[in-house]
Amino acid sequence: MTRYRNPRGRVGDDAHTVAGAPERARTPARPHGLSPLSRDAIVRAYRRYAPVYDRLFGGILDPGRRALADAVARAAPSKLLEVGVGTGLMLARYPATTAVVGVDLSEAMLARARARAQALPGRAIQLEVMDAEALMFADGEFDCVTVPYVLSVTPDPRRLVAEIRRVCRPGGTILILNHFSGGRFWWLLERAVRPLAGRVGFRSEFLLRTEISRYDWKIEEVKDVNLLGLSKLVSIRNR
Ligand SMILES: C[S@@+](CC[C@H](N)C(=O)[O-])C[C@H]1O[C@@H](n2cnc3c(N)ncnc32)[C@H](O)[C@@H]1O
Repeated sequence: MTRYRNPRGRVGDDAHTVAGAPERARTPARPHGLSPLSRDAIVRAYRRYAPVYDRLFGGILDPGRRALADAVARAAPSKLLEVGVGTGLMLARYPATTAVVGVDLSEAMLARARARAQALPGRAIQLEVMDAEALMFADGEFDCVTVPYVLSVTPDPRRLVAEIRRVCRPGGTILILNHFSGGRFWWLLERAVRPLAGRVGFRSEFLLRTEISRYDWKIEEVKDVNLLGLSKLVSIRNR
């Protein structure tokens, strides 16, 4: 099994101190036609959101998190990785017997997740500042990887997918919760927010066809969640 050690994975609010990080941190990624988002922009945006994130996005995105928790319970993993763990809104919902590792680019968001983890004594929860596009974990280390509301936020979603597939064991479960564009109700808002991706810290236009269906993994279920199908929960078997 390969140990993967990439110093660029260690980032956070002071990303510029990390060897190899500055150039990628400052350069907005414009991967395959998506709106550009740099790591700096993400860290800045989520430093601003951190104090109000739970109030802004806790309730409205919660039905999706509940569906995600149910899917994790069915998979009953021994070891789970959550990428973009944010303020830790999922932590209490994972099975008490599952060892959980959570990573995030934003130290400000993680500080809140740490407080949540402390309120769950007896749980095996490890939280790290780390770039999910350069994970410092071994191949196949996790039975399950969850990606709640992160794939359209990360600078290069295809790099993130390559990394979660690498660290999830073959046959393991990958659960992606995200907004995908093209729905009946949200297109106007998607269009309005599109030029603001760097400022708001997420991309509103993001297609299931180009970002999920393109891989040779096995999509087991796609389920509409949240108000008027705002998001989808995609359950995937890793190959
Ligand atoms: C919309 S928030 C979602 C937070 C949480 N998962 C939830 O359910 O509310 C997106 C989070 O992903 C993090 N993030 C974005 N790109 C990342 C990356 N490449 N590596 C690690 N975390 C990332 C952001 O810092 C932010 O905390």
